[in-house]
Amino acid sequence: AGNWLLVLSAILSINAAYGCPNKCLCYTASKTADCKNRGFTEIPAHLPPEIQILQLQNNRIWRINQNAFTGTPLLKILDLSNNSLSSLAPGAFQKLRYLQVLNLTRNLIHYIENKTFSFLPHLKELDLSSNSIIRLPETFGNSTGNITLLSVKHNKLQKMERVLLESLPNLKVVLFKDNPWQCTCNVFGLKLWLESFLYRGGISDGIICSTPGIRKGKDLLKVPYELFGACPLRTAHVHLASIHHHGFEHRSSLKHAHPNEYGENSRPNCEPKPKPRPVSLRHAIATVVITGVVCGIVCLMMLAAAVYGCAYAAITAKYHKEHLALAKQHGTPEEKEPFDSSLA
Ligand SMILES: *[C@@H]1O[C@H](CO)[C@@H](O)[C@H](O)[C@H]1NC(C)=O
Ligand SMILES: *[C@@H]1O[C@H](CO)[C@@H](O)[C@H](O)[C@H]1NC(C)=O
Ligand SMILES: *[C@@H]1O[C@H](CO)[C@@H](O)[C@H](O)[C@H]1NC(C)=O
Ligand SMILES: *[C@@H]1O[C@H](CO)[C@@H](O)[C@H](O)[C@H]1NC(C)=O
Ligand SMILES: *[C@@H]1O[C@H](CO)[C@@H](O)[C@H](O)[C@H]1NC(C)=O
Repeated sequence: AGNWLLVLSAILSINAAYGCPNKCLCYTASKTADCKNRGFTEIPAHLPPEIQILQLQNNRIWRINQNAFTGTPLLKILDLSNNSLSSLAPGAFQKLRYLQVLNLTRNLIHYIENKTFSFLPHLKELDLSSNSIIRLPETFGNSTGNITLLSVKHNKLQKMERVLLESLPNLKVVLFKDNPWQCTCNVFGLKLWLESFLYRGGISDGIICSTPGIRKGKDLLKVPYELFGACPLRTAHVHLASIHHHGFEHRSSLKHAHPNEYGENSRPNCEPKPKPRPVSLRHAIATVVITGVVCGIVCLMMLAAAVYGCAYAAITAKYHKEHLALAKQHGTPEEKEPFDSSLA
């Protein structure tokens, strides 16, 4: 028993020397603190200052104090997945200037403020999937130039600002799946951005519309541009000018549409028009013209064939008539070809 106590106290003293919280496992060689599945409700204190990887997944952490990470300024990977965070204080990650991977999947976050990630110049991967986010800011701050992966899948987003995505120049992978995307003017900018992102070789799982009803389940990329013709120019931007702008009038029913809850200002919730008449009209005219041309060509060919057929028939008939007359004169019932007889 004495021996056992000695070993135990030795282990404790080693842990104390490295400042590892007693529920965690700390590995000096890999600079890792493993604190997962421990029932923590806050970020544990007294972590070794030199750690670069902090595993806090599968706990019940519900808040992050302003100074939570002041003792671990060298963190590169922070895994907070499967916790109970419902909000993030603007300064929560402020001291983590070397952070590269921040995993916040499976929490209860509703909002992301515009300063939340603004002090993380080396951030590369940001996983916000499986939360309850209904709004993202217009910017993640001034130090997001290195973000290559962003996941917002499985949240409650109806729209997302194009400016936010444009502020991430090195983005390679962006995941949008499982959000109630509202395919009205709100997402027109997003559509344009996504098209150019994919064209540049970016990877995405796509945006599937949830509302309005007629576009439920439809891929945003397959919703034609013309349906966004009624969108205000502020959203549509210069792009609409190059895509034929028909100047659709707002339907009178739009006046009664309820204002968009998360939309900018009190702009009317302009729903794209379901049936753009000018386009179908254009198509109809084109179809008529093409059909006419094809029919014309076929008719001409048939006429030529008929004329040729009649002429041939007439000539043959005449020829036969003359021969019959000749045969009657000479009394030979049949005339043989000249070299046919010579061969025989
Ligand atoms: C999430 O964490 C809880 C403990 O807080 C655990 O029981 C559960 O299995 C974890 N879920 C996943 C998907 O890892
Ligand atoms: C975040 O953690 C989950 C598991 O909890 C994992 O599936 C996912 O790949 C991680 N995300 C990143 C960006 O590493
Ligand atoms: C951040 O949001 C606040 C309001 O929530 C706003 O006043 C401020 O201008 C925004 N900052 C940036 C950089 O967008
Ligand atoms: C980013 O903004 C913060 C304040 O929001 C400022 O302290 C910091 O110097 C800025 N960094 C750069 C690189 O501009
Ligand atoms: C991206 O990371 C590199 C180092 O990996 C750093 O030098 C650079 O300042 C970062 N870029 C931005 C825009 O923060």
